[in-house]
Amino acid sequence: MTGGASGIGAATCRRLAAEGARVAVTDMNLDGARQVADEVTGAAYELDVRAEDSIRAAVDAAEADLGPIDALVNNAGYDEWGWFTDTDPALWDRVLAVNLRGVIAVTHAVLPGMQQRRRGRIVNTASEAGRVGSSGSAIYSAAKAGVIGFTKAIAIENGRYGITSNAVAPGPIETPLLMGAPDAFGDLGKRLVENMVGSTNLRRLGQPDEVAAAIAFLASDDASYITGQALGVSGGLARI
Ligand SMILES: NC(=O)c1ccc[n+]([C@@H]2O[C@H](COP(=O)([O-])OP(=O)(O)OC[C@H]3O[C@@H](n4cnc5c(N)ncnc54)[C@H](O)[C@@H]3O)[C@@H](O)[C@H]2O)c1
Repeated sequence: MTGGASGIGAATCRRLAAEGARVAVTDMNLDGARQVADEVTGAAYELDVRAEDSIRAAVDAAEADLGPIDALVNNAGYDEWGWFTDTDPALWDRVLAVNLRGVIAVTHAVLPGMQQRRRGRIVNTASEAGRVGSSGSAIYSAAKAGVIGFTKAIAIENGRYGITSNAVAPGPIETPLLMGAPDAFGDLGKRLVENMVGSTNLRRLGQPDEVAAAIAFLASDDASYITGQALGVSGGLARI
């Protein structure tokens, strides 16, 4: 699990552990990962998805401690909100590095082992922003659309190994990433969160546990004939 210290990732670690998995809780925030790992009696590792050496070290340590990785959840993510014309190349690089390149890099480190063992589940936390676009989040939307395309390509290449690759596409979920937006980006953040909630059929925020349930399903044996899919966990959101 990447980004396991907070929000959707922490909820998914708890859910997977409750279902009997031994969970490697990884995050760039090692203290936060340790807190979650203590709760679920898993193990915590520092892993920054932007750095290949950090990824390699965490994957090797996790496999030495807990055994081969049967399921990979690429969940780490973040955003910097603002109108596209106010962004600059440095921001593009920061947002793409975590949300898109990070998913690619961690998958690249884990997938060969899954191919050797001829089994594996990959679940990527994309976003509805990658399917319908999210105003104030153009680069993040591009990254998440990229994650969905990557998910599908990995599904095609790896079906012959019995490996599945799927994504969840959350809508507005009550986590620090979303709820911090009004503090970090003022009135724009507040209005964008309100718009997102208003765009859901259910007219409410989702909870991390509701996304965790979908990720756990896609990582489970129950999802054995599901691959290359992006499952909306978004209260029926179809536009923002
Ligand atoms: N909250 C939402 O409304 C929402 C909606 C759609 C998709 N998502 C996606 O869900 C995922 C989880 O987000 P969340 O809402 O739980 O946010 P969060 O901020 O609560 O958790 C994100 C975690 O990712 C970690 N992280 C950030 N950059 C990292 C890096 N470079 N390397 C390793 N870890 C890093 C953070 O430390 C944090 O623990 C993200 O991919 C996010 O884009 C969230």
